[in-house]
This record gives sequence, structure tokens and C-alpha cells, in this order.
Amino acid sequence: MEKILDLISKEVVGAFEANGYQQKYGRATLSNRPDLCEYQCNGAMAAAKEYKCAPFVISDKIAESLKENPMFESVDSVKPGFLNLKINREYLAEYLREMDADKERLGCEKCKNPKTIMIDYGGPNVAKPLHVGHLRSAIIGESVKRIGKFMGHEMIGDVHLGDWGLQMGLIITELKQRKPELVYFDESYDGEYPAEPPFTIGELEEIYPTASGKSKEDEAYKEAAMQATYELQHGKRGYEALLSHILNVSVSDLKRNYEDLKVSFELWKGESDAQPYIPAMVEKMKADGHAYISEGALVVDVKQETDAKEIPPCMILKSDGASLYNTTDLATIVWRMKDYDPDEIIYVVDKRQELYFTQVFRCARKTGLVKPETELKFLGFGTMNGKDGKPFKTREGGVMRLEYLVSSINEEMYRKIADNHTVEEEEGRKTAKVVALSAIKYGDLSNQASKDYIFDVERFTSFEGNTGPYILYTIVRIKSILKKYQEEKSLPQGAQILAARSQSEKALMLEIGRFNGMMETAFEESAPHKVCAYIYDLANAFNHFYHETKIMAEEDEMAQAGYICLLKLTKRVLETCISVLGFDAPERM
Ligand code: ARG
Repeated sequence: MEKILDLISKEVVGAFEANGYQQKYGRATLSNRPDLCEYQCNGAMAAAKEYKCAPFVISDKIAESLKENPMFESVDSVKPGFLNLKINREYLAEYLREMDADKERLGCEKCKNPKTIMIDYGGPNVAKPLHVGHLRSAIIGESVKRIGKFMGHEMIGDVHLGDWGLQMGLIITELKQRKPELVYFDESYDGEYPAEPPFTIGELEEIYPTASGKSKEDEAYKEAAMQATYELQHGKRGYEALLSHILNVSVSDLKRNYEDLKVSFELWKGESDAQPYIPAMVEKMKADGHAYISEGALVVDVKQETDAKEIPPCMILKSDGASLYNTTDLATIVWRMKDYDPDEIIYVVDKRQELYFTQVFRCARKTGLVKPETELKFLGFGTMNGKDGKPFKTREGGVMRLEYLVSSINEEMYRKIADNHTVEEEEGRKTAKVVALSAIKYGDLSNQASKDYIFDVERFTSFEGNTGPYILYTIVRIKSILKKYQEEKSLPQGAQILAARSQSEKALMLEIGRFNGMMETAFEESAPHKVCAYIYDLANAFNHFYHETKIMAEEDEMAQAGYICLLKLTKRVLETCISVLGFDAPERM
């Protein structure tokens, strides 16, 4: 469906033209004075300069032309030259009926040119527990992906595991000290390695921090870990077998964690998957004359004349020939292009890595790893802070594990739900989990991604205000009215959304009508916060309408049925929005 705003603009543009003024002056916008009107057009103010007359002369003429137009309830020309527009109620009702008839997309058209978009998010590091720093990438990435899918693009999410580098050597070194008898350390062994991993996830998570701690104090230990990393990266069989155990154990644990967050990835590739592409990539960079040796290291210049600050060269190989985080990211681009040929790659990563990605993107472009038209986008997010304004920590000041954070919010939510009314423990816990996820995700997504935000448990879990639970509460409220209605009767023949009978009903209908345009913008700007802002407005409009309207007591059968149809549509729009944000609503709460 065409957006309401465009339909309105068309009429206004037509009126400008009919009166001999240029089309460009006829664009309508949402009103910034909702107390006066719903839409407005300020074009007469600008047109007055060109046509050398008073603005209201123009706005008067336009208002006169639009007076009989059935799309409008009123068109007022207001001095000095504004056009205030209100949409016709029957027209609006018809628009919503058409939305309602579109069972899948609520009148939001699929994009005309679907793209293949890869989205790099999550980015957990193998064997290290997920911490809150990884939460934002997962939440934002998942939502951006779902918005893209809804708009009809092919979205491919890749978790891009941090599974390459010193942490692997550290684990191997520690394991070797603890269990030197393991066959993986037997140089002369050439048989098959066991299928069972030699550790559990619990052990693995303890091994890594222990090893990392030791390496900071003990130079020889660190040396050994570096050596082990080197050997692993150069194909030592036993270590490769260990790596695949580490990966398997870690990945199944990560999957469980992400599942709890309703986050899922199309691809579970890691940094290690890029390694086979490095040698040929490096050779080509050298052969093409892009890469050169500087102070022993192999680098590619990426600075540009227009840079305001210095952008250092992108380092490809260290002087000892070892590859780096950069090298891996560049080689990852190689396989992504080869296997998927995406139109766009979006990276959802901490904004502190922005300069780094500037280097990587420029290097990829300069060396021809991507086609000129392939877009590389950095979607950097800010830090999640505690109430003290410092990065979120445990009460003891340690790094907060994601699992712990989630379970403490679940607890808090359960307490609130059990306080509100009596529920069976099992049902209460289940509901608490669903609501808690909305609290966490909405708390994050309602902020513009690039900004830091304060993770305020009390505020996020509140049933009032701009929160996930408030949105869910609104949906649950609608569900319960619908249920009550259905228990008493069924919709009569010919039931449909009717022209608004009150201001609050019209306001709700206007919000619903904004859905398609809002989704388009949220996609274009990779901005889940726009979806949040929208459903907050929509939920407010609904609750206002609900408080002013006697739905169940309405005596006119068709009018009541009209309300029910409107409620159903409201619910569908809200549910579609929370589903792209990545959470669900419970039946009751
Ligand atoms: N593993 C990295 C970290 O924990 C994030 C990875 C981001 N993605 C990428 N392609 N570099 O910081």
C-alpha cells in the first residue's frame, strides 16, 4: 500500500500544480502541532518567495482547491501561510481495512529490489563466557536482521566467532600442564583422535581465565602459549583436534545462550574459517603493489586526502609473518564475496572499533576484495553502563556474565508478577522469562544504537513508561478484551473497522496507519529504535482510546464489532513490531 503521507502529498501537490505553482512546494508532513492538525504543508511559505506574493495568498488558494476533496476532513489556511490538514475519517477507516485485509504484511510492501545482505553480529569469543558487552551486538544485530527480512531482503547472519588467536594457545597450554598424558600431546601418535572432548564447558570456562591469569605473570608460560598458538595455526594435528573439541563444546553452550535470547544465526563461521584464504589474498595484495613492507610489517596505505585525522595504514602481516585481527577480517570478506556475493555487509560491533573498521573497509576496497558497488557498513554501538555511569559490572566489580544478568532479570520479573497477582509458580516463571526478555531487549533497542545507555533494571522492568513490559502489557490487555468478547459472542456479518467516532479513536487509527512508512525508515536507517518509538506511541494511543471508550458495554452491535476489528488490527501491528525487535508477548501477565 502507498503510505498515507504520500497519498496526502499527492493531493496537495496536485492542488499546487492546478493553481500554477511548482510541484515541489506541495509536500505534506506529519504535523508538529497535533493539537491543531494531523498533517501539514508549509510549502506556501517557500513558494511565496518565488511567486513574489504573500504566503497566505497561496495557502488560501490551495485550501480552497482542497475543500471538496473527500480525502480531507478539513483543510485550513492559517496565517502567515500554513496549511493544516485533517484526514477524512471514512478515508482513514478504509485505509486501515485495506491494511487489515493484508494478512501477512499489514500493507507494508516488500522492497522492489531485494538485496543479499550479510550481517556480522554476536562476535562471541570461544571458551570465554558471554558477557554483557556481547549482549548489544546480539540484540541489535538480530533486530536489524529481522527488519531486513520483513522488508523482503535476503539477510544472512554470521556469528563470526572469535576462535583464532592466543586464547586457543592458552587453553592448550593449560590443558597440557594438567593432563600431559592426553593423546593430543603425543607427538608420535598418528591414529584417530577420540570423539569425546577431554573437558566440559564448566572446565573450559575455568581453564581459560586461569591460563590467561598465569600468562600475565609467567613469561615462560606465555611463551609456551604463543608457541602452541603458532603450532596450532601451522597445522599441528593434535592441536587441531583439540581446537575442534573446544569449538564443539563452546558452540553448543553459546547456542543455548543465544536461544534464550531468541537470537539465531544462519552461519556459525569463525575467524578460523578465514585462514585458508589468507595466503592467496596476501600474495595478490603484494602482486598488485598495494601491500608493502614498512618497519618489517606488511601494510596497505588507507589514508585519504580528505581525512581530518590521520588514518594509519592497515597492517596485513606482522614482521614475524603472523596474521592479525585485520587479516582475518579481510580474508573473511574474501569468502563472503566468493560464497554469497552480498550487496552489503553490515558489522554490528562496539563503536570503539570504528577506526579499525574504517581501515579494513578502505583496504578491502582499495585491494579489490569487494566490488565497487558492495556496501560495507559499520553499525557501531555504545557501551551499556550501570547506574553509576560506568560499564556494567557485577556488584563485586567483576565482568558481568550474560547468563547471570539474564537470570537476575528473570528473577526480578517473577517477583513483580507474583506480587501483582497469584499465579502458579510454573506459569509465573514462564511468563517472567518472556517479559524479562522484552525488558532487556526493549531497554537496549529503544536507544539509538550508537549511544551509550544506562542499564536500569528497575526502569526496564517497570510496567509503566517507555519499556518492553509496558508494550507487552498493552498487547495482553487487548488479548484479554478479545477473549472476553469471543466468550460472549462472535463477530456479526459485515463487521469491519468503522470511521472513528472519537478523537482518541482517530488518534489510534492515525498511528496504525503509520506502520508501513515507519518500517521502511527503520530498515533504511538500520534503526530498531524507530520501531520502539513507534510502538510506544501506538501503545499510548491505544491505552488512551481504551480508557475513554466503553468497548464491552457498547450497545450498538456493529459499532462494538468495529472496535473489536480495530483492536485486532492494533494487536497485529504491535505483534509484528515486537517480532522484528526479537521478543514475544505472553498470553497473560
Ligand atoms: N570477537 C570480537 C570481540 O569480542 C567481535 C567481532 C566483531 N566482528 C568482526 N568481524 N570483527 O570484540
